[in-house]
Amino acid sequence: MFDMVIRNGTVATASDVFKADVAIRDGRIVQVGEALGEAAKVIDAAGRLVLPGGIDSHVHLAQPSGDGIVMADGFESGTLSALFGGNTTVMPFCLQEKGSSLREALTQYHALAEGNCYTDVSFHLIVSDPTPAVLGQELPALVADGYSSFKVFMTYEGLRLNDAQILETMDVARRTGALVMVHCENEDAIRYLIGRHEEAGTVAPKAHATTRPVVVEREATHRALSLAEVVDVPVVIVHVSNGAAIEEIRAARARGLKVIGETCPQYLTLTADDLDGMDWEGAKFVCSPPPRTVEEQANCWRGLETGLFDLYSSDHCPFRYEDDKGKLNPKGRLSFRHIPNGIPGVETRLPILFSEGVMTGRIDLPRFVALIATNHARVYGLEKKGSITVGKDADIAIWDPNETRTIRHAELHDGADYTPYEGLEIKGWPTTVILGGKCMVEDGQLVGAKGDGRYRSRTAPSMPTHAR
Ligand code: URP
Ligand code: ZN
Ligand code: ZN
Repeated sequence: MFDMVIRNGTVATASDVFKADVAIRDGRIVQVGEALGEAAKVIDAAGRLVLPGGIDSHVHLAQPSGDGIVMADGFESGTLSALFGGNTTVMPFCLQEKGSSLREALTQYHALAEGNCYTDVSFHLIVSDPTPAVLGQELPALVADGYSSFKVFMTYEGLRLNDAQILETMDVARRTGALVMVHCENEDAIRYLIGRHEEAGTVAPKAHATTRPVVVEREATHRALSLAEVVDVPVVIVHVSNGAAIEEIRAARARGLKVIGETCPQYLTLTADDLDGMDWEGAKFVCSPPPRTVEEQANCWRGLETGLFDLYSSDHCPFRYEDDKGKLNPKGRLSFRHIPNGIPGVETRLPILFSEGVMTGRIDLPRFVALIATNHARVYGLEKKGSITVGKDADIAIWDPNETRTIRHAELHDGADYTPYEGLEIKGWPTTVILGGKCMVEDGQLVGAKGDGRYRSRTAPSMPTHAR
């Protein structure tokens, strides 16, 4: 007797698509095959797809944002939204504030997550103050404790590291086997362009895009890859938005560097023109790097189709629009410089790629599964997750490929008050979501509870096949 059997569905892994039943016991997948035996609960998935639950490895929740700004999602609303979008694990960032230790930040962050999650969670670190104590003791000890990835920024006042600091942080990764994720934009070049825009009185949201042009991202991507090459360490280039940065990744790989590339839905579906909305509405699309052009969208699609990108994440970083603590904060109403960077997207990430990628024939189902789950599990050391395979956690999303929806924020579950994808027509949606063998969403209705999602420690990162 199994705890659950999902019958008659079409199962997809990162390598195959086949008709099979999936049997679950004690939270794990125990059999995948034909006509499996009796179970306490049976789900008929005829006509539907049985896919691993999404792993969104780039999410910001409850992150301190400074200057009276408050993120729209904590763990409760952020993971609920993720769950309804077909995800079973999200990986938010635990931010080290300057002058504080990473351990302190982690203690506080765990307290926020504990008992509040609808999906499993695992944390990356953000290193903003790489002191000798952090680099010498704290970070290596945290990697040993399963916090095996950290993000560094080349932009943002208060967060950016200089080249020497990036080299030192990468060296910790080299010694410990951790992964460094790099946000590639050249802060000095951005500041120079901001100065020129302000001199000209150009302060509306669209200026966010023109002060962060492709060259600013391309240069920083080249530098990050060069620094990784000097140290001889694998590196993740996050939220890649354009073809020039893609070419940098391709060239670095050709030189033998182990590079993992990530892109996000905003670079496939939005453009800089979206930042040009009436009445400051463009603030709703302010994120970094900014959305680009239709041509750059095509470059990012090619990166997904050809295997250049290993990861497709949301970079969910939600701020409310009509809010003093959000996009329209008192200073943000006056200048693009003060509009908090980031957009919501954890719930719409998978439906957008399914609809625009799989249903249009740009990518096949195995590639979809790799991009949304399997590669994230492998890269970030979530070894029990990311595949419909015997022995893995029973984290499963059952998709109705024929369900059509128009994205409306009113139907989403995050804490923001808008979605940048309002009105986008979608074909295919995850209607049932199972976490560790427990139904969390069944036919579109929440049946799981807050606290069902738990923190998951990680093993060492491992490289995708092309980078071995
Ligand atoms: O604009 C963005 N992407 N905000 C989130 C923080 C980051 O850089 O990933
Ligand atoms: Zn970033
Ligand atoms: Zn981010």
